[in-house]
Order: sequence, then C-alpha cells, then structure tokens
Amino acid sequence: MPFKSETDSEVLVQLVEYIMQSNGLEVLEALQVALQQVIGAYAIVILDREHPDTLICARKSSPLVIGLGADGDYHIASDALPIAAYTSQAVYLDDNDIAILRYGQPLQVVNIQNEAQHPKIKQIDRTLGDISKGDYPFFMLKEIFEQPDCLRDCMRGRVLSDDDTISLSAVADYRKQLTEASRILIVACGTSWHAGLIGKQLIERFCRIPVEVEYASEFRYRDPVILPGDVVIAISQSGETADTLAAAELARSKGALVFGICNAVGSSISRQTHTGIYIHVGPEIGVASTKAFTGQVTVLSMLALCLAHERKTISEADYHELVGELRRIPAKMETALQTNELIRQLAPVFTYARNCLYLGRGYNYPVALEGALKLKEISYIHAEGYPAAEMKHGPIALIDSEMPVFVIATRETLLDKLRSNIQEVKARGGRITALTTVGDNSIRRYADHVIELPDTHECFQPLIASVPLQLLAYHIAVSKGLDVDYPRNLAKSVTVE
Ligand code: AGP
Repeated sequence: MPFKSETDSEVLVQLVEYIMQSNGLEVLEALQVALQQVIGAYAIVILDREHPDTLICARKSSPLVIGLGADGDYHIASDALPIAAYTSQAVYLDDNDIAILRYGQPLQVVNIQNEAQHPKIKQIDRTLGDISKGDYPFFMLKEIFEQPDCLRDCMRGRVLSDDDTISLSAVADYRKQLTEASRILIVACGTSWHAGLIGKQLIERFCRIPVEVEYASEFRYRDPVILPGDVVIAISQSGETADTLAAAELARSKGALVFGICNAVGSSISRQTHTGIYIHVGPEIGVASTKAFTGQVTVLSMLALCLAHERKTISEADYHELVGELRRIPAKMETALQTNELIRQLAPVFTYARNCLYLGRGYNYPVALEGALKLKEISYIHAEGYPAAEMKHGPIALIDSEMPVFVIATRETLLDKLRSNIQEVKARGGRITALTTVGDNSIRRYADHVIELPDTHECFQPLIASVPLQLLAYHIAVSKGLDVDYPRNLAKSVTVE
C-alpha cells in the first residue's frame, strides 16, 4: 500500500481504512488488526463517518484519559486537567486498551485481542476544575507566588511539627528496600532533572547511599546496568514525559524498585511505579516549571531526611534541627518573594543581553542550571549554568562587559571559594548580579547588583535561591513583551520522544 502522508497519525487512519476495505471489517476490528502491526507510541480517537454516534480511543505509551459525564457524555484528553471542569470521574486506559464510547451508553473497553477489560473508575481531583490566573497577568507569576503555600501543602501530614519528624507512607511501605538500597538512580528530564541533582546531594550527604542522576532520554537507550538492590527514582511534574516513563518502565523490567515523584495525580508514571510521593503543589499551567521544581526539591529533602533517620546516618539532633528548618522554609520563601519589585526594576537592564551566565556551587550549582533554563525558555536569551569553579576551564573566555553573570552566593561551605570565582569574573569586566544571604556584605563590592535572601541551612538554599531567579526570568520575558506562559516551540508535557 503506498504511503499517502508522512504524518504518522494520518498513515494510521489510512491503514485502518485499508484493512476495513480489503477485509470487509468494521472500524473496531480493523483498528485491532492495525494496532497489532504498528510500532511506537500513540493516543488516538477515531470517528467513523458511517457511525457518528461512536468514538473509539486507543493508547500505547502516550496518555489518554476518558472523563465520564453525568449525562452519558464523555470527555477525552491527554490528562485530567482539561476535563475536570466537566466531570469528576475518569478512566485511564492501559497500553493496548481500546475504549468504545457511545453517547448515553456505558463505556466498553477491550484490548487489541478483543478481550473485555474492566478498568477502574478514578476520582479526578476537584481543584483541577477551578483554575484561573486570579489577579495575576500570567500563570507563571501566580505559580511563583503560590510556592510558600504549595510547599506547606507538600509537607502537610508528612513533616510533623509536634516533634519535628518526617513520616512518609512510601518509606514505611518499602522500608527494607529503600533503607538497604545499594545505589539510587534518578531519571528525569529538564527541570525535574535539576531537582534530581539536588536530590543526589541531599541523599548522598544524609543517607550515605551513592546516587546517580541521568537524563531519562539517555538512560533508556544505553542498556544501563541495574543491580539487585538498586532503587530508581523517576521525577516528573506531569507524570507523562515519554522518556521518563520509558526509563521507569525499563528499570522496572530489570527488577529495580521504581519510586515516582510526580505532581499529576493518576498520571502514567505514577501508575507505572511501585510506590512514590506526590508533590501536591496543584496544577502547574505555565510551561516554565516553578512550583513543581520547589515541590520536587521539598519531597527529595523529606525523603533524604526520612531515609537518613531510618538508616541512622544522621544524628537525632541534626535530624530534628533540619526538619524544623524545612518547616520554616515556606515563611522564608515569602521573604524571598519580597525581592519581586527590585527584580522587576532590574529586569529591563538585561533585556538586550544575548548571553547570560549563571554560577553556583554545591547545592546551588543545580540552581544555576535551573535559573539558566528558565531564562532560555521564556526570554529566548541564551544562558548557561556552570559550577563556578569550572569557569577557569573555558567559559571565562566569554566574560566581558556585555555578558551578565548571575552568581548564587548565599551562605554555604564553599562561599570563600566562590568569592574567588566572583573576583575572577570581576577582573575580566563581567557584570555581576549576586544573590547573597542577608547580612553578608562580603560580595557587595564585586557585584553590580545584589539581591539579598533570608538565611537557611545550605541544603535548603535551592528552595530560597530559585525564587529570585524565577522572578528574574519572568520579568525579563515580560520586559521583552513575550508570552510567558506559552513560550514558542515548547509543550507543557513532552509525551513524545
Ligand atoms: C521546565 O521548565 C520545562 N518546561 C521542562 O524542562 C520540563 O521540566 C521537562 O519537560 C520535564 O517535564 P516533567 O517534569 O513533566 O517530566
């Protein structure tokens, strides 16, 4: 049969039609034959013009959710968010399942071998149906400002204020495998990968378990070694990122315990993992992830401290002190948000930059990567994040008065060394904007601009320091007149490779 299109969904429709015509089959039977032949991921809905009262949906490795309306109506989408305003009940199709939807009639599900399936009906989170920007001009700004409350939600029932302890049901349920893990592998993409880099530092420092962090897209194709006793953590806001889902499935097939850290309840990754922790920060609409990132870092902080306590690799005193400090983070984040007006005034200065550099060390190195990613995504200014000490191995050649350099120089173990790195940039005419801890004036003389942040333990600095960098990217993009929530070429969930 000659190909009439290069678009895969059009090819699939042609194939189904060809099978119908050449074998005298109805659309459902023809679809079952077709799907046994095709390779790859799909989520499709078919309407046969001869049967306009019937929709047929199928999925494999791509998300598809069917909302069940109260009046016999159906709603189909790739996640629960867009259908939540119409119904509270949903069915998530499994791979190779086909659903037949007829208005006013019960949902029928079969697989591609035509065996009847009985999927469970799930409740959709009611808050999903109630999404608006409120008084904010963009979802991203609203989501940045929501973060203190989001982190309170994330910690609710998990961080216990009575005795400053952490209780995680996932750790209780899989205590042996988690506490005896010989290695932890973190797989994720984009911002979630940056959260994973912070998670590595937290888990290695407090639990003394070696951690590797990998791009899910690389992990899935390099035949990774998975050893008995490995735990794989898949981090994803949407829970639908194709590469992260495939990496989690691969790890599971090789015998690892797979642990999900997701935001979207009921998402594919959360259903494919053995256990996990939802970040519970509410729906994130802005394409540039903000509150999901700090939610992921909060979950990783709780996980690291909880596991460390179980493994007795942290002293009781340090454990309680750090849990107490984690509880105080939302309030400190509120203080960090007060930098908004200063950053709004500063932002136009950077509008014409062609390149920017973000520097940090230790826990703040991933914050530098994340700050640079935010700027790239929504302002279309090229930006790179670097561990500050790596500057002298190449990137320092780029420094001149045209290149804004953002340095995360909050109080931390390596601050003295970072100060030397800042001097190196200054000596080459770099224009420095420094994030510093309030009360520390030692950076001021090298910096053109200083943004002061509240003090916290260095392991929680990312939760505070990422806030002004989110605001900076936001205000630069707004100054350039760009659509912050829907930047060009980007999708909120990357459900294809
Ligand atoms: C974040 O600002 C980006 N839009 C992007 O890097 C995102 O974090 C990445 O696509 C992973 O998404 P996920 O967390 O939903 O898996």
